[in-house]
Amino acid sequence: MAVNRGLGLCVILALVLPCTTALKFRPNGSFRIVQFTDLHYGDQITGNNVVNNATAYWDELLQPTYLRNLSFATLFGNHDDNPFESSLSQHGPANVPGVSNYVLEIEGSHGTVTPLFMFDTGGGTLPEVITQAHVDWFRNESARVAARNGNKTLPGMAFLHIPMPEFASVQPSSAAALRARRGSATAPCFGMAQDGISPYTDNSTGLLDAMASAGSVHAAITGHNHGNDWLCRHSNGMWLGFGRHSGYGGYGTWARGARVYELQAGKPGATYTYVRMEDGSIEDAGVLEPTASVLQ
Ligand SMILES: *[C@@H]1O[C@H](CO)[C@@H](O)[C@H](O)[C@H]1NC(C)=O
Ligand SMILES: *[C@@H]1O[C@H](CO)[C@@H](O)[C@H](O)[C@H]1NC(C)=O
Ligand SMILES: *[C@@H]1O[C@H](CO)[C@@H](O)[C@H](O)[C@H]1NC(C)=O
Ligand SMILES: *[C@@H]1O[C@H](CO)[C@@H](O)[C@H](O)[C@H]1NC(C)=O
Ligand SMILES: *[C@@H]1O[C@H](CO)[C@@H](O)[C@H](O)[C@H]1NC(C)=O
Ligand SMILES: *[C@@H]1O[C@H](CO)[C@@H](O)[C@H](O)[C@H]1NC(C)=O
Repeated sequence: MAVNRGLGLCVILALVLPCTTALKFRPNGSFRIVQFTDLHYGDQITGNNVVNNATAYWDELLQPTYLRNLSFATLFGNHDDNPFESSLSQHGPANVPGVSNYVLEIEGSHGTVTPLFMFDTGGGTLPEVITQAHVDWFRNESARVAARNGNKTLPGMAFLHIPMPEFASVQPSSAAALRARRGSATAPCFGMAQDGISPYTDNSTGLLDAMASAGSVHAAITGHNHGNDWLCRHSNGMWLGFGRHSGYGGYGTWARGARVYELQAGKPGATYTYVRMEDGSIEDAGVLEPTASVLQ
């Protein structure tokens, strides 16, 4: 969903959503998101590196979504800091650092909405930081969405480009440690953990804590560290983790893929996720199961 025709943009984390106007759950209650991370499209489409007309690259990049009438939204990563416009992507409010802080709302039955919070974690010539303004904005938006749902919190998802510092506390120390937690009741975890964590600086009272206490996010997902696509549950009940590295630019030779999320209306904890690999196979699947602390 997102789109920036003609301006420099490194699609570091892009989501493809199944509709062109209002976002709605299907009649059977499902909603599919596909997350492409760290495309580093030859590093041509970046706010920092682009020197010529990027339109041709951008058109090629978006051809698959245009041909299928799919909507998409982008988050800026650490190679982007130019303004952009169009599609479902939005400019964030001027009082919050970064340019891509916004909320998408998936409409369910009875007028309820499930939020997708998009955070700009900076980078490039901007500091890689989450500030108190991000947290205040998040709290405001959570309350606004809850008010639309009769003050009932309907946990959605958060997408960020750069991981939260807290990711380091849930990442398994080894592949064996990760496998051992696959079916854990207390600290479940699945996926690939072959990379470090390079988090943003948290210059706030704590975005993760704000999410946990607001109850409006059941999974916070990032890109940035190309060798990770794991998802692990934090002790606060939220799922933290990574999409799959999708691009051929940037570091690393891990097989490319895109993480898919199948949401179920009104049942955020039933979100089924897997990675669709470039060769069509499926890897690193799991269900972001409900927990008392994230489900009302
Ligand atoms: C809902 O419908 C879509 C589109 O037909 C399908 O892909 C998906 O598997 C269905 N989901 C469930 C839970 O039935
Ligand atoms: C930029 O490239 C596009 C696509 O190739 C082309 O249509 C457009 O005229 C170019 N714009 C400029 C200013 O060169
Ligand atoms: C895309 O949407 C347009 C406008 O609704 C429609 O005319 C066209 O047939 C659609 N194309 C595909 C591939 O669904
Ligand atoms: C949050 O809401 C309060 C109260 O309406 C407002 O004063 C403040 O500017 C908002 N902060 C952000 C970052 O949106
Ligand atoms: C939701 O909460 C706000 C703030 O407490 C209150 O003003 C409003 O009346 C509530 N709305 C509903 C539908 O309960
Ligand atoms: C982070 O917080 C410190 C202390 O409040 C402040 O001096 C600094 O400017 C902040 N940095 C950013 C990038 O917001």
